[in-house]
Amino acid sequence: MQALVTGGAGFIGSHLVDALLARGDTVRVFDDLSTGRRENVHAESELVEGSVVDEDAVRRAVAGCEVVFHQSALGAVARSVADPRTSDRVNVHGTLTVLTLARDAGVRRVVFASSSSVYGGAAVVPTPETVPTRPRSPYAVSKLAGEWYTRVFAELYDVETVALRYFNVFGPRQRPDSTYAAVIPLFTAALLADERPTVHGDGTQSRDFTYVSDVVAANLLAAGGPPETSSEVFNVAPGAGSSLLDLLAGLGRVIGVEPDPVFVEPRAGDIHTSCADASKARTQLGWAPEVTFEDGLARYVDWLRSG
Ligand SMILES: NC(=O)c1ccc[n+]([C@@H]2O[C@H](COP(=O)([O-])OP(=O)(O)OC[C@H]3O[C@@H](n4cnc5c(N)ncnc54)[C@H](O)[C@@H]3O)[C@@H](O)[C@H]2O)c1
Repeated sequence: MQALVTGGAGFIGSHLVDALLARGDTVRVFDDLSTGRRENVHAESELVEGSVVDEDAVRRAVAGCEVVFHQSALGAVARSVADPRTSDRVNVHGTLTVLTLARDAGVRRVVFASSSSVYGGAAVVPTPETVPTRPRSPYAVSKLAGEWYTRVFAELYDVETVALRYFNVFGPRQRPDSTYAAVIPLFTAALLADERPTVHGDGTQSRDFTYVSDVVAANLLAAGGPPETSSEVFNVAPGAGSSLLDLLAGLGRVIGVEPDPVFVEPRAGDIHTSCADASKARTQLGWAPEVTFEDGLARYVDWLRSG
């Protein structure tokens, strides 16, 4: 199959490219290399450089593709709070552009990377897809808009779509030195450097950490899912919900240190508990997470140590 991975130079997208190539697909990467890196782009994939808001570039990228994995976006809640219009342009207008030109090119199915942020701290935990959404940042609004566009496209036009709500994804190629680095890279880098990790709040806030290969597996299943999965949205996370203190303890065991965090004020707008009910993905896509939290942490630590 000819596949397109937008954001294929980024963290999750590049792992997806590797998996598609490994199973024999032909892969095109579309990326503007704004947060992604050229060194992440697999040598056997074709790189089309450009922005998702550039119609001509997107048209070139989708041509001849059967499936589009739309992973590109400007991530990070804080970035969207600082500059909501740029997040909107890339994440909403960019998604609409990809969907429109994918439809025009006769793409069979588009798989869209959405986010647990659309829940905005749901009252029901573990949280199923049926819980009302309550975005609390421009980023979350942009992901919810992308979801609705993917759904409406499947209902109105001859293109299938699936949206996957990722929770906190982690794994190799996730960098601690980027402007909006995630918590696992930051904690790991601090512990490896013999520094005290900074915890906002008391560390009891929890996240549903998901190893990147499990997210890749969900994408492959979503791309090949039966027609009735089209226009649907699926949570993708183990449903385990680990606190930041659990995370530090796990990293401490893997690295062989006793973490001694510095506790600072909670971050405004931080959600306390995030945990998925992923039974819909299990029953309708046949997805199940395979990498345990501690195995995932060990693989991440190995990667960061070797870099
Ligand atoms: N990492 C997570 O925990 C997480 C959680 C929920 C959802 N997501 C979503 O998953 C997807 C992948 O995230 P990631 O963590 O791999 O982030 P990433 O920043 O590593 O990857 C995003 C990629 O998109 C590219 N990109 C950004 N703007 C672009 C534009 N205008 N045109 C073309 N390419 C552009 C970047 O260069 C980068 O390669 C994103 O849609 C993100 O919102 C990630």
